[in-house]
Amino acid sequence: MKKIILFADPGIDDSVAIMYALLNPEIEVLAIVSSYGNVDKEQATDNIAYLLHLAGREDVPIIGGTNAPSSGETPTYYPEIHGEDGLGPIRPPEEISMELTNFSELYTIIRDNKGLTIVDVGRNTSLASLFLLGEDLTEDVKEFYIMGGAFFVPGNVTPSAEANFYGDPTASHLVMKEFNDIYLAPLNVTNKAIITMEHVQTILEMTDHPLVQILDDVMKYYIDAYKKLVPGISGAPMHDVVTLSLMVNPSMGKTIRRDVDVLTAGSGMGTSIADFRVSSKPAEKNSNIYLELDYEAFLKDFIKVMSSSGEK
Ligand code: BDR
Ligand code: CA
Repeated sequence: MKKIILFADPGIDDSVAIMYALLNPEIEVLAIVSSYGNVDKEQATDNIAYLLHLAGREDVPIIGGTNAPSSGETPTYYPEIHGEDGLGPIRPPEEISMELTNFSELYTIIRDNKGLTIVDVGRNTSLASLFLLGEDLTEDVKEFYIMGGAFFVPGNVTPSAEANFYGDPTASHLVMKEFNDIYLAPLNVTNKAIITMEHVQTILEMTDHPLVQILDDVMKYYIDAYKKLVPGISGAPMHDVVTLSLMVNPSMGKTIRRDVDVLTAGSGMGTSIADFRVSSKPAEKNSNIYLELDYEAFLKDFIKVMSSSGEK
């Protein structure tokens, strides 16, 4: 069983990642940090509260993360991919809301759960803040699983930059430079984690769990958006879900140990760089980049977890 704190900005694939984490018997969600990203922080918080309500898991605290990137610029949101409110066509009922827990509570949770894993599937501003505001986490956090960057493939917001790293490149640069025990799931791997409407139907035929019932509408919106972006694609990439799936099943992918740099300015802003030359050396610190994914294993795991009862 892995104990995790999940940093997210739901967002459709973030929302499915939250469902996956709550349903997976191998994962105990200690807290979810809500931040700006695919939608603003307030909307992200309402979406997390709605998902926790559907799961009957209002005991999981929602921690208030950051509102904007460290540049101070107004964030760009992506309604064409994630919907106006981040859940495709779904608007969470107004009467469902949860109080935000103060950011400082994260230090208590981390101290009380030594050896936990931190998973960040959004912009890295909140995670960088954890370092900037507090003490050294290396003793207490076992590993950081991060969705971000792109190697050997184009970016998804600029020719070379991926959305999470582009959203706050200064924060991503800091996280990659200062943190240890990093496992990075970049676009070259997450783009392959395609889920189709046929897969969704298979899941829905196997479960009547209330949390999963919104999957149909949410995934239809997300897949339609991707079909406009990438002609010929059969479904949509579950960037954030596969990051969690790799955390539980690390051997489902192959990693290479390399330092990662993130460009913070210029036309390459948000671009991730690592040295893959034959003469290059493994990173001195434990910094790992996923380069390969066993797609069939991911698919099997995704369907199994999403159709499970959620009993831990
Ligand atoms: C990442 O950007 C967001 O839009 C997704 O939720 C994912 O975390 C993919 O580039
Ligand atoms: Ca995300």
